[in-house]
Amino acid sequence: MQQKPVEDLTEAEAKAELAQLAERIGRANRAYHTLDAPEMSDADYDALKLRNAAIEARFPALKRPDSPSDQVGGALADGFAKVRHSVRMLSLENAFSDTDVEDFDDRVRKYLGLSAQAPLMMTAEPKIDGLSLSLRYEGGRLVQAATRGDGEEGENVTENARTIADIPQTLAHAPDVLEVRGEVYMAHADFAALNERQLAAKDKPFANPRNAAAGSLRQLDPAITRARPLRFFAYAWGELSEPLAETQMAAIERLAALGFQTNPLTRLCDGPKALLAFYHEVEERRAALGYDIDGVVYKVNDLALQRRLGFRSTTPRWATAHKFPAELAWTELQAIDIQVGRTGALSPVARLLPVTVGGVVVSNATLHNEDYIAGRDSRGNTIRGGKDIRVGDWVQVYRAGDVIPKVADVDLARRPGGAVPYVFPQTCPECGSEAIREEGDSVRRCTGGLICPAQAVERLKHFVSRAAFDIEGLGAKQVEAFFNDPTLAIREPADIFTLAARDAANPLAKLKNRDGWGEKSATNLFAAIEARRTIPLNRLIFALGIRHVGEAAAALLATHYGTWEAFEAAMTAAQIGAGPEWDDLLSIDGVGAVMATSVITAFHQPAERASIDRLAAHLTVEQVTRRGPVESPVAGKTVVFTGTLERMTRAEAKARAEALGAKVAGSVSAKTDLLVAGPGAGSKAAKAAELGVEVIDEDAWLALIGGA
Ligand code: IVH
Repeated sequence: MQQKPVEDLTEAEAKAELAQLAERIGRANRAYHTLDAPEMSDADYDALKLRNAAIEARFPALKRPDSPSDQVGGALADGFAKVRHSVRMLSLENAFSDTDVEDFDDRVRKYLGLSAQAPLMMTAEPKIDGLSLSLRYEGGRLVQAATRGDGEEGENVTENARTIADIPQTLAHAPDVLEVRGEVYMAHADFAALNERQLAAKDKPFANPRNAAAGSLRQLDPAITRARPLRFFAYAWGELSEPLAETQMAAIERLAALGFQTNPLTRLCDGPKALLAFYHEVEERRAALGYDIDGVVYKVNDLALQRRLGFRSTTPRWATAHKFPAELAWTELQAIDIQVGRTGALSPVARLLPVTVGGVVVSNATLHNEDYIAGRDSRGNTIRGGKDIRVGDWVQVYRAGDVIPKVADVDLARRPGGAVPYVFPQTCPECGSEAIREEGDSVRRCTGGLICPAQAVERLKHFVSRAAFDIEGLGAKQVEAFFNDPTLAIREPADIFTLAARDAANPLAKLKNRDGWGEKSATNLFAAIEARRTIPLNRLIFALGIRHVGEAAAALLATHYGTWEAFEAAMTAAQIGAGPEWDDLLSIDGVGAVMATSVITAFHQPAERASIDRLAAHLTVEQVTRRGPVESPVAGKTVVFTGTLERMTRAEAKARAEALGAKVAGSVSAKTDLLVAGPGAGSKAAKAAELGVEVIDEDAWLALIGGA
């Protein structure tokens, strides 16, 4: 075929050709790496890659997320390429008791404004204990498979997913764009056989089928994944060019008809009673299923209702995961150690005689706080019948899902004669500063601040964590080692960014002779640090590790202030408890006085502020842009709802407004653009009138945002 010179290509032609090239190069990679059956000469292959690179150089904006130039044999030589999910991959909120399930049904009804009698169907299906995967089909062909990652960005594991027999490569009669989501898992029998092979080959066996599945999917060499017996159940979807069906149940049936495995134990239930009956049925059959499940997932069946219910920051409102009770085991408590956290909290940790709980060996468990050890809850009421926990005791431990093991109970009959009540330290075991408990706080905290090495290290670990700076090659283990190494001297976040420059002549020398570091890994680390000098505002705010400011709160602050300069200026000017900056901070829905005080304090405490300033000097902070449709008549506007809404609940109105790019505030101020007032609106309407803020009723609001 005659090829047009790259300079003569129109944008549309370039786009089409890049798509073709991605497909052809992908196919060649698969033939070569995965199937061991090359289908073109090396020279032809190189020519395709060069052509691809040349088109990308001329049209950088057209570069595809799955661009072959980012890949070596389907995966980055040094890990997997990142893929941004077009629709976020979320997790599920958990329910543990019958009441939690009834509460879930109640919450959904309340949000939708349904009475207790109105019909509300839900599906129920096993919660598979594996790892989630998103499969993207375009024109009926599998073009991409991505792990969940942080929900926004996952890893491109397309080549590996193609080796899984349950995953169809092509689909007949599928929507043009179809993202199928589900769980990759390993069956018990396959897991046992794999571990036998591992042992025979003197390789480490896997702790459980989930670890085996994760380890197998995330292999850089797809040939290894192919040799591992992975399976896949489809249970959800992401982007779609057309709807699959009108109900969850019908959508799952459609996925099954397209050739996916769907779980045969999926049931339609007409209320909490039916859900709970099904839950117990599944629990009884659990051991005989042949694969691990850790609960039952309930989902609102009507997809129109699912759309109305929408999402909280990380979980849908229309689903919940009812977990099976944790497994329990008895063991000996050999010691109680105190760990000092990022905010100075002294956390007691139980050191246990190792014991297997739910297939995993447990040797540590959390003891929460001093009240918990003494047999009291935070209000001073007795727990465990008032039994305290002593070193030498036999204690019952449990694990629920991925969480840290906990101590549930003590066997007084086995308490050794000499056991004495545990005395909780009144000073920090790491820096010797006084450790105090504030009024109403169940936690005792070290008052050493940044002089406490334990707090400093924990802050650094938080700083490099996944939702914060997420610097490749610089995890908790490395920052701990670097903190303690006088030549590297990474004592605070800014030090990470001066590491290379501090020994400008030979920055690599510092690292590369250390244990576990070579020229390549050191070079990669410096490159990863450089890449992170540009950081989105929400990540930076979260990374500061301010008490009470988690990921969701950091995102709220970032979208409210927009830029680092605006945020920093506002916090510098702010006073706790009064003033325009304080009012503005509290006008953010989701920010209360406790969080506001904590943020302002961080910017006013001299040592802490100096550390923040030193860090900021090295960074370019990206303004935060919202996901979702921001081209709407209310995008960027600050809206307040007041009075009774008749066509939807307050929660739904707020979520809808936010999805359209509006800010929803709790009180009227000069910054308010619009007050939506239902019947019974009182002081807010008066204040709006006084400030000249536009006031409309619910119907006008619905008309404004496009009805329905
Ligand atoms: S639905 C928008 N259904 O559980 C939520 N998830 O704890 C889509 N999981 O990340 C998830 N079995 O990896 C759904 N039948 C099932 C599931 C399931 C397992 C996993 C999934 C999710 C995690 C949340």
